[in-house]
Amino acid sequence: MRAVVVPQPGEADALTLAERPDPVPSEREVRIRVTAAGLNGADLSQRRGFYPSPAGAPDWPGLEVSGTVDAVGDDVTEWHVGDRVCALLPGGGYAELVTVDAGLVLPVPEGVDLVEAAGLPEVAATVWSNVVDLGRLSAGDALLVHGGSSGIGTMAIQLGRALGADVIATAGSDEKAAFCREVGAQAAVNYRTQDFVEAAHAFTDGRGVDVVLDIVGGSYIARDLDALATGGRIVSIAVRDREPASVDMGLLMRKRASIHGTTLRARPLAERTAIIAAVREHVWPLVAEGRIRPVIDSVFPLEDAAAAHRRMESSAHRGKILLQVG
Ligand SMILES: NC(=O)c1ccc[n+]([C@@H]2O[C@H](COP(=O)([O-])OP(=O)(O)OC[C@H]3O[C@@H](n4cnc5c(N)ncnc54)[C@H](OP(=O)(O)O)[C@@H]3O)[C@@H](O)[C@H]2O)c1
Repeated sequence: MRAVVVPQPGEADALTLAERPDPVPSEREVRIRVTAAGLNGADLSQRRGFYPSPAGAPDWPGLEVSGTVDAVGDDVTEWHVGDRVCALLPGGGYAELVTVDAGLVLPVPEGVDLVEAAGLPEVAATVWSNVVDLGRLSAGDALLVHGGSSGIGTMAIQLGRALGADVIATAGSDEKAAFCREVGAQAAVNYRTQDFVEAAHAFTDGRGVDVVLDIVGGSYIARDLDALATGGRIVSIAVRDREPASVDMGLLMRKRASIHGTTLRARPLAERTAIIAAVREHVWPLVAEGRIRPVIDSVFPLEDAAAAHRRMESSAHRGKILLQVG
């Protein structure tokens, strides 16, 4: 099969189309003939040599795919050859074939095109596990989403609204802030020209927000805490500001607030399987009802993976970038 691999870590041109042996599913695995693969921030870090695949996974990037089941292991009863599916992977999605544990596979939600489905598993699983599981977002809460125009951000805005929360987002331009409103945020600020702490207090009549989804870290964490309501939760899923965060612990206590952090790929298989089951139960019906839709920026052919990475690095995109494989 063809795969896009990284023989030497580096810039986007490090991505190289190569032949690799067809993977063979083990007892509990499904093999998927890939239609499309989603790009994620982690793929860029992996390409630069900073975020290797975990042991046992292919050593090239790709955390999610859509496609058609092409073979199943002896112990798999829930999936059949020909099923249209999408899946969360520990790596290796930039390829014509992938094998994946049956518990990480999802049906393509009703009303979603097979290519677009590749953009759903990683954002749905990340946002559900962080904003809902850890952040305990519920109806009536206020949610602050940083990077609202990103793949993660567009899912967080839509899921927050679908669950009955009020959503305010940040983005790096007025145009992207307007896009966040189109996706469903009731308010959105350009973080380059506006103070998101002030905006969060204005949005909540001075109460503060209940949950912050943070993708910046560093100096943002103290500001997130300033933006938080009593009892609020900060969930941290990425670090762009490499300075250590400095937090006023007295304020954290007075606000009875909490700060959580996770990375999805490192979680044990049982936890990822439970997250996928929750996504299927709670998020997929919202997608089928049209209350959440995949937000796709662009689709590149597999062989143009380098151009797709460059687009993501330019930060010009809104929503998900996909690679079309088959
Ligand atoms: N921990 C986990 O399990 C997990 C799982 C999935 C993704 N992630 C992380 O979540 C982040 C979003 O993922 P993605 O795939 O959606 O990537 P993406 O589409 O590339 O999003 C990155 C976003 O960050 C925004 N951004 C940069 N600096 C910002 C700032 N100071 N304030 C607010 N927004 C800022 C960019 O918007 P502007 O250009 O407008 O600034 C861009 O929209 C990535 O860092 C990714 O690594 C973590």
